Amino acid sequence: MERETVVILDFGSQYTQLIARRVRECKVYCEILPFGVNMTAVSSLLPKAVILSGGPASVTADKSPVCVPGVFNLGVPVLGICYGMQLEGKLLGGKVQGSRTREYGFAEFIRRSGSALFSGLPKKFSVWMSHGDKVTGLPKGFSIIGSTPGSRICAMADEKRGIYGVQFHPEVVHTPLGKKIFENFLYGIAGCTRSWSMKSFVKQSIEEIRDTVGPKKVICALSGGVDSSVLAVLLNKAIGKRLTCVFVDNGLLRKGERSLVAKKFREHYRINLRVIDAEASFLRRLKGVADPEKKRKIIGKEFIRIFEKEARGAGNIKFLAQGTLYPDLIESRSAFGGPSATIKTHHNVGGLPEKMDLKLIEPFKYLFKDEVRLAGKELGLPDDMIYRQPFPGPGLAVRILGDVTKKRLDLLREADVILIDEIRKAGFYKKTWQTFCVLLPVKSVGVMGDERTYENVAAIRSVTSVDGMTADWARLPQELLARISNRIINEVKGINRVVYDISSKPPATIEWE
Ligand code: XMP
Repeated sequence: MERETVVILDFGSQYTQLIARRVRECKVYCEILPFGVNMTAVSSLLPKAVILSGGPASVTADKSPVCVPGVFNLGVPVLGICYGMQLEGKLLGGKVQGSRTREYGFAEFIRRSGSALFSGLPKKFSVWMSHGDKVTGLPKGFSIIGSTPGSRICAMADEKRGIYGVQFHPEVVHTPLGKKIFENFLYGIAGCTRSWSMKSFVKQSIEEIRDTVGPKKVICALSGGVDSSVLAVLLNKAIGKRLTCVFVDNGLLRKGERSLVAKKFREHYRINLRVIDAEASFLRRLKGVADPEKKRKIIGKEFIRIFEKEARGAGNIKFLAQGTLYPDLIESRSAFGGPSATIKTHHNVGGLPEKMDLKLIEPFKYLFKDEVRLAGKELGLPDDMIYRQPFPGPGLAVRILGDVTKKRLDLLREADVILIDEIRKAGFYKKTWQTFCVLLPVKSVGVMGDERTYENVAAIRSVTSVDGMTADWARLPQELLARISNRIINEVKGINRVVYDISSKPPATIEWE
């Protein structure tokens, strides 16, 4: 099946991923490439259109990022956004003026009639600006298609060649009619059809997996989280018994997690699942370790050791499937300075593929998180699996401050079950990004009946977030907090005090360790 692709060249804007989101919302498939890629990389995707993103640099600076000029000669429409438009100005012979003051915020845009880019839009509409430089002289063949009080050439076009530039950001929500501009560009100008859907993605992925794997075998680490669950079901559909899933019970899981996963995947989906009971070996290695980074390292290393053993035992495995997502991929090859410092290695079974000579299968590497959820829906996964809150790889070990013991794990598990039960009942499970309990390494005095107690303190962490990168503490109703606190203190023997964490990220993080 041929896929219509739009190429987005990334000049480092914080909004580049948003451009991709908007394009995909228009049901058009797109890929983000670093600005400096060569012509072959662009043309091999047979793009129907190219979008040049914004970026923090100034095109008037000496070493500003530039794309290969060939993109303007591909014979497909090009849309430059902010820096992308200034680059068009520079590369196509116009004039760009640097400025030290930025125009930032809402502006009233007045369009001229006749441009296909603004077809069907009102004469005036609100747009979001965030730029310093501006185009002050049009390149040959271009005309002004709209202005704001601060930018005479706020939008320009060479309609004949299909090259467009807008100084504002149509991809952000602050440009309320931005979606219509993308629709005009993608459907009206580039002739894209609405062919990108989860149905087509799932169908195509299954075909691709079958082609790649052939008669060979695939192994996949199943955590029970959204990404690995959808991945397992997709692979199962594609290759059935040639897939082996490995679920490692490291003893650091939430209550009932292991039986839930075993039941769902083995019994319901009939997936070839190996459940490894590794609680003892993880807890032995974690004994006496309080340092968060040491805990993480120990857990990561032990996981790989066990997974590797299973992979060897499963015989003749040639592929390792991973639920890598698009943001991870983009992050790891960020436009400026190669791999960024924030790559989350925990998404990968680090080091395994090379060590064991396994080839990687990453069907979601071009998907965003909510698209994986849609793929899950398409594959028939139930909502309670698709909308699970994230759970960290090192599990409860990073939610027990200090020494991790079986006793403390059980305590935390009991408190957490109560918390989640109340959160669900009050309708806050889906409204919060994560809600969980943390066990603190302090004891405090309390009184129960007539008796003095000296027991543990549990902290409740509940945050709202869109992507986990930043987060705010959730304003849970006081009555709900009161209920949770009451139940935990009354029902969990060993906890006599509950506190609520009111820190946002940054400067705090979501997890306590
Ligand atoms: P922080 O604590 O850094 O967490 O604000 C951001 C998000 O990432 C999750 N997290 C992890 N996930 N392995 C994972 O798979 C890890 O080591 C890990 N550490 C943090 C965390 O739960 C939150 O959603």
